[in-house]
Amino acid sequence: MKGLILSGGLGTRLRPITHTSNKHLIPLANKPMIYYPIETLKNAGITDIGIIVGHTEEKIREVKDAIGDGSKFGIKITYIEQDAPRGLAHAVKVARGFLVNDNADKKFIVHLGDNILKGGIKKYVDTFKNGDLDAMILLKDVPNPQRFGVAEIKDGKIIRLIEKPITSPNNLALVGIYFFNEAIFNEIDKLKPSWRNEYEITEAIQGLLDDGSKVDYRIIDAEWWKDPGDAEGILEANTLLLDEIISSNKGKIEEGADIQGKVSIGDGTIVKKGATIKGPTIIGSNCIIGGNSVIGPYASIGDQTVVENAWIERSIVIGEAKIDCETKITDSVIGRKVNIVPSDKTKSSRLIVGEHSFIAL
Ligand code: DAU
Repeated sequence: MKGLILSGGLGTRLRPITHTSNKHLIPLANKPMIYYPIETLKNAGITDIGIIVGHTEEKIREVKDAIGDGSKFGIKITYIEQDAPRGLAHAVKVARGFLVNDNADKKFIVHLGDNILKGGIKKYVDTFKNGDLDAMILLKDVPNPQRFGVAEIKDGKIIRLIEKPITSPNNLALVGIYFFNEAIFNEIDKLKPSWRNEYEITEAIQGLLDDGSKVDYRIIDAEWWKDPGDAEGILEANTLLLDEIISSNKGKIEEGADIQGKVSIGDGTIVKKGATIKGPTIIGSNCIIGGNSVIGPYASIGDQTVVENAWIERSIVIGEAKIDCETKITDSVIGRKVNIVPSDKTKSSRLIVGEHSFIAL
């Protein structure tokens, strides 16, 4: 069985970060978001994986640089370009040659590049691989079904799928992990653009149902599932992932620095005397955490960041930033090479700023 990960799209809700960087490379617990679906597929035994990449050369190169040919994950990666974000079904159609040509059982799995699921999918992969279904979807109970595709279920059968319903029949959202065989391509070919001008995979699966194909579902029992579409979603996912980290220290912690709880510190990083690190928190490599600083809880600090005189809590600092502002920063996403310097004092600041921004606090 092959896998396909979708990392096209514009990531508009994550601007300004996505002006200069692909959304799927935003680090969560210091790892690019797209590494999580790659690892989920690999752990389920899927090692031949296509990745849909978007349409600007810079963003394509960035994804290729971060992932390479897959050898560092022990898998094989094929990049497939989508000329514009025309929808999930369009992305699957663009990958048709990769997905079915030399694929003996013509079965494959599609994993959205912004979906992260705790606990893995091996049992669902095995069910689909060994069964005779044309498609299988995963569902999860959510408090806000209007944001998702939703499945209406009656007597244990899917009777209808609705994308972003205004009023939802229930709370069962479609998880962005789909199992298909080649029957899906006939349905994709019949699609017309939806109200949001996209070719919807939800409508293609509805087509399978209407044509009497075998479509089944599983309600997942994962502890959590996230599709972090906006800054708050990114921070929530970061928090959940930090809860799982294991303490480690490859850097130098000076005597008189205070390390509390689960903390991971990278190569070449120095935590100076008088600094406090509150776990769960991760600090990358070659960072300097100055004496009058508090990092965490729930902070991810990317490589080559310097923090002096600041408290950074429940935030993501992507990397190569300089933060010296005598203030507390919470619930913030701070882009690469951002420079934050002190000005008038406030008790708390909230920042969502792009790469190379300059902010005086
Ligand atoms: O996260 C689950 C939800 O994902 C499902 O419940 C919905 O039924 C499904 O339509 C999808 O909804 P979203 O509105 O969240 O999809 P989004 O536009 O955010 O795209 C999902 C991923 O696919 C994202 O990683 C970008 C990528 N993508 C998106 C489009 C539109 C592509 O690679 N190409 C595209 O053309």
